[in-house]
Parts: sequence; C-alpha cells; structure tokens
Amino acid sequence: MNVLLIGSGGREHALAWKIAASPMLTRLFAAPGNPGIAKEAECVGLDASDHAAVLSFCREKAIDLVVIGPEAPLVAGLADTLRATGVRVFGPSAAAARLEGSKGFTKDLCARYGIPTAAYGRFGNAEDARAYVEKVGAPIVVKADGLAAGKGVTVAMNEGEALAAIDACFDGAFGGAGAEVVVEEYLEGEEASFFCLCDGTTALPFGTAQDHKRVGDGDTGPNTGGMGAYSPAPAMTPAMIERAMREIVEPTMRGMAEIGAPFSGILYAGLMLTADGPKLIEYNVRFGDPECQVLMPRLKDDILVLMQAAADGQLGHMSVRWRDEAALTVVIAAKGYPTNPEKGAPISGIGAAEADGAIVFQAGTAEKGGRLVAASGRVLDVTALGRTVVEAQRKAYEAVDRIGFPGGFCRRDIGWRAIG
Ligand code: AMP
Ligand code: GLY
Repeated sequence: MNVLLIGSGGREHALAWKIAASPMLTRLFAAPGNPGIAKEAECVGLDASDHAAVLSFCREKAIDLVVIGPEAPLVAGLADTLRATGVRVFGPSAAAARLEGSKGFTKDLCARYGIPTAAYGRFGNAEDARAYVEKVGAPIVVKADGLAAGKGVTVAMNEGEALAAIDACFDGAFGGAGAEVVVEEYLEGEEASFFCLCDGTTALPFGTAQDHKRVGDGDTGPNTGGMGAYSPAPAMTPAMIERAMREIVEPTMRGMAEIGAPFSGILYAGLMLTADGPKLIEYNVRFGDPECQVLMPRLKDDILVLMQAAADGQLGHMSVRWRDEAALTVVIAAKGYPTNPEKGAPISGIGAAEADGAIVFQAGTAEKGGRLVAASGRVLDVTALGRTVVEAQRKAYEAVDRIGFPGGFCRRDIGWRAIG
C-alpha cells in the first residue's frame, strides 16, 4: 500500500512511525513532513492547500490512502476533492469537519440531538454578546466561532474579562474566525480527551488521554497547544466511556448522518467530567497533538488496517486492542513559547534519549547546515511507556534530561493528575 501523510508536527511523526510499522505498507510519503518524519517517510514539498497538486501526486505515485493530520486541510475540503476522484482518504469531509471548524455548528447540533454540553448563545455582534454576559454573569467562556489555532477561547473569571474578549473577537483579533462568537456556561470538572475511530456510521472508542494545556507547572500561565499528555486517562473508566458513547458520540454520528454529513476519520471529543456526567467542551476532527504521541505507542493493531476500514465504511467488523502499559509524553518547547518562540537553537542527544526505549517524536524541527535546530514553538515530544504512569513519567523525564537544547524548556509535572 502506498500512503501519503499530510502534516508536519509531532502528531504526524507519531502517525508516520506507526504507519511505517505496518506490514501492509509499500511506500510512505509525507507532505511536507519534518526531519523526524523523514526517518520513516519520503518527505515531499507538496502544498496541502493546492488540491490539484495533491491529486496529481496521488495519481503519479499510485497512492492507496491519504491520511490528513491537521484540521485546516480537512476544513478546506481536501478530503472531498480527493474522494471525488476515487482516492481513499482517512479524514472527514468539509461538511463533517464543521464539528471543529464552527463551534456554533457543533453547539446547534448538540441542542438538536440532546447532547450534554455547556448552555450557550451564538452572536454575530458585540452588543448582543455583551448583553448575554451581563445577564448570565461570570465565570463564563467566550469563544471565537471559527478555527483560531487553539487561541480563540477565553475562560473569563469575571465579567470585565469576558467583555474584553468579546470586543477582541469583533475587533478582528482572530480574523474571520471571530466574526461570530459563542458565549457559554463555565463547566467545572476534570478534562479528558476521548477519541473515536469513525467510518460514517460506526464509532469505535479509540483511546483516552489527558493533555496539559497551560505552559507552566501546576497548570499555570497561558494556554498552549499542549505541553504533554498521558494515556489512558484514569478518569475515563469503562462506565464513563460507555456513557460518553451513548450520550455524546453516538447521537453525534446519528445527527451528522441525518444532515447528510456522515463523519469518518478520528473524532476527538474534549470532555469535561462534571458532577452531572460527561459534557462536551468541543470536538476536533483529527488526532490531538500531543495526545496522538501517547496513543500510537499503545496501539497494538495495525493502524493502516484500521484507517483503511474507517475510509471504506468497514469498522463494524473491527475491534481495537491496546497494550496494558501507560504512555506519557513531555513536550520540549523553544524559549518564549507560546507567545514568541525563538528559532534556531541546536538540538542534540536524541539518540541518547532513545537508548533506553523512549521515543522522541519531532514537532517543530528543521535541518540547517547538517544540524537539527528548533524551528517553531513545540519542538520535541519525548515519549515513554511504563507499567504505570509513574514509571512512564520517570522514563520520559530521564530521556528529556539527555536532550541538549539551549533555551528549550518543559513542564516537570506531566501526569500529575494520574499520580496524585
Ligand atoms: P478549547 O480550545 O475549546 O479546547 O478550549 C480551551 C480550553 O478552555 C479547554 O481545554 C478548557 O480547559 C477550557 N474551556 C473551554 N470551554 C470551557 C467551558 N465551557 N467551561 C470551562 N472551561 C472551558
Ligand atoms: N492537544 C490539543 C489539541 O490537539 O487540540
């Protein structure tokens, strides 16, 4: 099987690593990839926003499956273009990717299908949004409707903050993504990431994880794309998974099929486990980053078999098996992340870090003059398996300490919730 993987982050390195282990694989291409992905795949300078170019590459290389890692090409309809000409794709259509591309769309779907989520209002102007905040009061959450690279959400602990966030959205802080805002109830509880493999009809639970969104130890400082993760999330007990499937994922699958936008690919539910049960915070239509980096090492099955079945509507016959071990990943970020990461610092020690079995997935790296250097905010994902989260954590940090990366930093408490 020839596979084309779209993307260039740590998530895609983890996917490439797992795809490369499949006995079904003939050739793996990645566009654009990164120096870590290049160990597993042939990286090609293909622009994912140029759908015609991707299509002609697929024909030229006889690609059997395209795996789309990030959300932007999905929301832009790359999967639709490819499928229309018979190319098999793992990832949702643009219509189904609205689950991530428009928060308002998802909230309306929840309302229509009785899916538990925060109470909300959708607003196209600042005045009405402000009036809603003044009526409901704080704490309250303000979200730009569209894709804002994880930065469009303000959890406001007082009214002033909420009103400022509304003004920022309508003043263009998030471009077109902020032309509409969703204002919603503040939910209290523990957060968990829950993944399902979907084929348009069937959804199979596909692992749980917990991310660490704040930049600093003890969950302090600004939000980031994620500073580390572990899997499984102990709070996602079998009973909680069953409930999340029944109350959240299955009605979503039904609803999307009913509106003519059946969902296939990976559905990532960000859940808040409240005193009243699991509630949907948001959907993403792709693997989490860095959650993917802890799911792939735990997956026993051949990912290509599963992705092909998802793309072909054949998941009804499948099951998924996981290793018993826990996995934990620590993100090493460049100095200044998330606001202003410094580029260019040299990176060394990956071989030493991997000597005892850890895996170093590369995110924002580049090769310059024969050296590996930092190229964006999140740079490396140092990942380890262990019999317990404690053991996985110890091994991951031992590996972290073998990496040389001037100015690079990481959180020292990844996994704290599971360890207590
Ligand atoms: P999002 O970009 O939608 O994942 O939101 C970023 C973070 O904001 C989430 O991971 C939560 O920690 C927090 N958040 C979002 N919505 C709510 C809510 N309704 N109540 C409490 N926290 C929220
Ligand atoms: N780690 C959060 C995300 O991928 O959206």
